[in-house]
Amino acid sequence: MHVEPSGQACGAVVTGVDLAAPLAPQDVAAIRAAWLQHHVLAFPDQHLSDDDLERFTMAMGGFGEDPFIAPIPGRTHVIAIQRDANETAPIFAETWHTDWSFQARPPAGTCLYGLTIPPAGGDTLFANQHLALDAMPAELRARIEGLVAIHSAQKAYAPEGFYGAGDKGRSMTIRPSEAARATQQHPFIRHHPETGRKGLFGCLGYIIGFEGMSEEEALPLLVELYHWQGQEQFQYRHRWQKNMLVMWDNRSVLHAATGGYQGHARLLHRTTIAAA
Ligand code: SIN
Repeated sequence: MHVEPSGQACGAVVTGVDLAAPLAPQDVAAIRAAWLQHHVLAFPDQHLSDDDLERFTMAMGGFGEDPFIAPIPGRTHVIAIQRDANETAPIFAETWHTDWSFQARPPAGTCLYGLTIPPAGGDTLFANQHLALDAMPAELRARIEGLVAIHSAQKAYAPEGFYGAGDKGRSMTIRPSEAARATQQHPFIRHHPETGRKGLFGCLGYIIGFEGMSEEEALPLLVELYHWQGQEQFQYRHRWQKNMLVMWDNRSVLHAATGGYQGHARLLHRTTIAAA
């Protein structure tokens, strides 16, 4: 197995392993070690069925729970990140976020496998939140030290949310729900549960406030942090290829979809990896 770092703020390309076959324990260990080091791994030229994608996800830690998006027919844990060529709804997930951070035990990671990839555009951006914390000016860091963030899916998936009843003409099967109003708290600066390294967890969007802070105070702080967290110096820009699998660490990076492929379809299958 060969691991080639991207040269950007995170990310590496892994070759020399066939994910369509069951992995030996030493391969699982090597992939997980590279993942913890580089936060985002891309495996090009992998010819994977949904069974293969599920088996890989199981080997990396088992399935997370995926609310608000219907699984693809015949599967419980695979969702489609999909956009038709003529679709005009806003790009799905085009703002920084980390997957399902509003859960009590958010998924450790996400796997995304490219089936239909447009000729240009549709990159996924990642932002390394260890670096975002390390480089943070002391004055800003002092303001966030010890804060506990309140996470919720309400702005996205409540009936009046971004993907709610008013979200028309989308090919993805999103299921808005009252359940999206639930809240969950996580420290904003926290130790990575496997490496112990400190980083920022989550951002404006799924974070709707901070414990013990008024909304008037929290919102401008979250906006300031959002701009800090997504800066180019912390980024890895992932360019997709058909038959490429990417797995990222939701505990280390934020990610965001990008557009720029109007007139072309895009389809990827996604699973989440359960909390370790
Ligand atoms: C996602 O947030 O899972 C979607 C990323 C993408 O479409 O590039």
